[in-house]
Amino acid sequence: MKKPFVIAIDGASSTGKSTLAKALAQALGFVYVDSGAMYRGVTLFAQQHGWLSPTHFDTETLITHLDDIQLTFNNNNLLLNGIDVSTEIRTMTVSNGVSQVAAVSAIRSFLVAQQRAIGAQHNVVMDGRDIGTVVFPNADVKLFLTADANIRAQRRYDELKGTDPSVTLDAILENITQRDHLDSTRADSPLVQATDAIAINAAEFSITTLQTHVLALVKKRMGI
Ligand code: DC
Repeated sequence: MKKPFVIAIDGASSTGKSTLAKALAQALGFVYVDSGAMYRGVTLFAQQHGWLSPTHFDTETLITHLDDIQLTFNNNNLLLNGIDVSTEIRTMTVSNGVSQVAAVSAIRSFLVAQQRAIGAQHNVVMDGRDIGTVVFPNADVKLFLTADANIRAQRRYDELKGTDPSVTLDAILENITQRDHLDSTRADSPLVQATDAIAINAAEFSITTLQTHVLALVKKRMGI
């Protein structure tokens, strides 16, 4: 079998990575993997079992139960042990706990192994924080998306207010700023731009322009 083609899209939260990744996967017939959803799934599991709260994180117990966590995707929706949790993983409760969970090396290794296994089998578009640096250092195309925190917070607010009317723009901005800090300063696989990634300020383009531009670039690299 020909080696799968891997597109890695990294960047901070709410830069539009997943919108771009989904559109590329759809246009190219690739599998889309939202690696952030996987970290969110583990976070939800820990919270459901009482191992993670705003004041307490029982890291060791979570690590010993990692094999009880089965994460799968069905039409881009995350299933946690067979149950669709795609709405629950986007709540502020999960958003506020996820960076702590994502800083734990044993959890990262557990998820990175699964992400690599998917990329070994399928042509993929995967988005996250460490896809081009750690998960697939030899990815065929690497993009690094940036955007001003206020623009990202507004974006996330517009997405969330329908499902969670109690959410405020201020709370989202605070969560985004806090996660930017935690995700970029953690010891294991911090959010950094791969040296060979193409940096894009997503706020400078409309979604359509960005998609058209990146699709053309990918097709050129694929030779199609
Ligand atoms: O993309 P997102 O906001 O849904 O990601 C949620 C969190 O998961 C993010 O704050 C950091 C973590 N994450 C990570 O550490 N590595 C990845 N590849 C993807 C996400």
